[in-house]
Amino acid sequence: MINSPRLIVALDLETFDEARKLVDDLGDSVDIFKVGSQIFTAYGPFIIRYLQSKGKKVFLDLKFHDIPNTVASAVASAVGLSVSPNKDTGFAPLFMLTVHTAGGKEMMQAAVKAVHEKAKILKVQRPLIVGVTVLTSTTKDEGTQELVLLRAQMAKEAGLDGVVASVEETAAIRKELGKDFLIVTPGIRPADASLNDQKRVATPKAAILQGSNFLVVGRPIIQDSSPRAAAQKILEEIKKG
Ligand code: C5P
Repeated sequence: MINSPRLIVALDLETFDEARKLVDDLGDSVDIFKVGSQIFTAYGPFIIRYLQSKGKKVFLDLKFHDIPNTVASAVASAVGLSVSPNKDTGFAPLFMLTVHTAGGKEMMQAAVKAVHEKAKILKVQRPLIVGVTVLTSTTKDEGTQELVLLRAQMAKEAGLDGVVASVEETAAIRKELGKDFLIVTPGIRPADASLNDQKRVATPKAAILQGSNFLVVGRPIIQDSSPRAAAQKILEEIKKG
């Protein structure tokens, strides 16, 4: 399904101007951006339209977690973000979105069904749906690996395309759930970078070697004085991995 591992930059910024500057600074080096709760709460669909107009792929990371009916409606609305109000300009479809696996199998099944149906109605390519397992900011304890694997298994059974998990669980997920199940890995820190609030972290190379498909990087790039140079360094590590 996905061949070589890819970099996703988390657009965890306060203002539209900061986002615009970062996207310009990174230029062609990055083509997938993660829109999370901070910037989406501030700017909503405008930030998504902006990224699409720059030819970027959008990963909408709102970690939907609610009753099945509400999540189904929310993800259907998210698919609607693919569609331009002006039929002539035709924006790109949303690339990927997250639901939270803690919401249960029925919730995830409802999300999958709603995404397929809405994409069919709108005649757009459907976004990939990935399930957040256990946040990388929580410390590893005895049950973490089992819980992540259990939730990943449930996500696959519900029809999700993959999961978001830390590098510490990546090899086990890959082994249990096969090569076509996507693994998106946040908590990526180059060897010399600060951990911030993340606990279950790894270098880009380690994540690739464990079997990750997408590496999500926020602060090590967006807070660097030269985001482009920081991204290039990580891209080189990905290539080596
Ligand atoms: O700045 P940093 O590289 O730690 O950013 C990681 C990004 O990945 C954040 O936007 C965070 O919301 C997201 N994320 C995470 N752990 C998960 C799922 C998403 O850190 N399990």
